[in-house]
Amino acid sequence: MAHILLGVTGSIAAFKACHLASDWSKQGHEVRVVMTAAAQEFVTPLTFSSLTHTQTRTSMFAAQRNDCDVAHTPSDPLHINHVDDAKWADMLVIAPASADIIAKIACGIADDQLTSTVLAYSEGPKILCPAMNVRMYENAVTQRNLNICRELGWTIVEPGSGMLACQDVGKGRMEEPAAIEAAVADLLRATQPAETLPLRGLHVLITAGPTQEPLDPVRYLTNHSTGKMGYAIAEQARDMGADVTLVSGPVSLSAPHGVDVIHVTTARNMFDAVQERFMQADLTIMAAAVGDFRPVEQVQEKIKKNGRVNIDLHLTSNPDILAWAGEHKTADQTLCGFAMETQDLEANAAKKLASKHCSMLVANNLNTPGAGFAVDTNVVTVLKPGATPDEPIIEHWNKMGKQELAERILTELSALRNTDNTIPPKS
Ligand SMILES: Cc1cc2nc3c(=O)[nH]c(=O)nc-3n(C[C@H](O)[C@H](O)[C@H](O)COP(=O)(O)O)c2cc1C
Repeated sequence: MAHILLGVTGSIAAFKACHLASDWSKQGHEVRVVMTAAAQEFVTPLTFSSLTHTQTRTSMFAAQRNDCDVAHTPSDPLHINHVDDAKWADMLVIAPASADIIAKIACGIADDQLTSTVLAYSEGPKILCPAMNVRMYENAVTQRNLNICRELGWTIVEPGSGMLACQDVGKGRMEEPAAIEAAVADLLRATQPAETLPLRGLHVLITAGPTQEPLDPVRYLTNHSTGKMGYAIAEQARDMGADVTLVSGPVSLSAPHGVDVIHVTTARNMFDAVQERFMQADLTIMAAAVGDFRPVEQVQEKIKKNGRVNIDLHLTSNPDILAWAGEHKTADQTLCGFAMETQDLEANAAKKLASKHCSMLVANNLNTPGAGFAVDTNVVTVLKPGATPDEPIIEHWNKMGKQELAERILTELSALRNTDNTIPPKS
């Protein structure tokens, strides 16, 4: 978890900075906020102090004199707040960044707590999130100042376009907190030491969600998968440094930032997408609930009742994507399958592990409380190849959140890659 120093300046967008402070604190980061005098006209320092559980820095000299509520080390004259904060921070974010602060940074002015902190923060990632009226933003002097900031190593999260608070329409609206958080997460990952990113340099291919098999233009066969498990694995693999491709069936989840998402509908679409990308993948995790069967025929017009009580549906089997991957994987590829069972979990999962040539299989029982579709937790049994196909190594993992489970699965697979404990591919 990082030390994030958040600078807030005088803009209506200051309210969005409250979301940033709140989200980062909830995510476990330590957040300190420095406000300019103008920023305090829009949001109170108390809001940020409450959200971050730390005194908001608002004044350079009052804090040193110990005569206001902002001193965090007031009685020790050896502590100079703007220098201490600059040394403490892993990441400096100014959101919103006014035209004024951008100009001051470009010129090296240090006439208040925030600008002095900025100047004392010499190394480390730093992000500016401009927010202003479109005319101020497009003004040549602002653009020149932004270019100087880029040259000084600042990452600029470009403002969006649309109706601005002043009723003008154009570019200048500060980017939404989610996009700023994604940019910060990217920069934090990029500056993390390699040993903390066990999947750095690996391509990870993940499938997630259900498939839909059309019957006619308005109906389809599908299952209850929400994609939560596969998406959690994709996000976790990204956070562990991997280059991630997610082949996703239709779900209502947002595409994870920094992940290449391929949207598919049918099992055959998913098969095509996997076949195209499989050989580039070091690690493939198939968490999708792929429909085993599809209607033999997809009729072009809506099927009408026409007075019938029963109709016959003729189904045919879909391609077995996991089996194909198991047959084609090379010795240096790692393959993890998922199995959802309602009975004989271990026996069925052991059969699947061996017959699909998986390096690991994660099985769960739909009838176990806290496991299965649409819940945020899972209870799984993990199988790995043992001495013989009849004797797999079986581990029962306790109930845990899908994000935590994603991390455990990836840690386990990363360890497996290092011990070369995979079933060799069929020749
Ligand atoms: C209602 C209102 C909204 C403002 N919004 C912005 C803004 O979005 N961006 C900006 O650069 N300046 C904006 N300003 C002007 C700044 O607050 C002003 O330039 C101030 O000196 C910035 O100081 P600071 O950079 O120290 O925070 C606004 C002023 C007012 C009165």
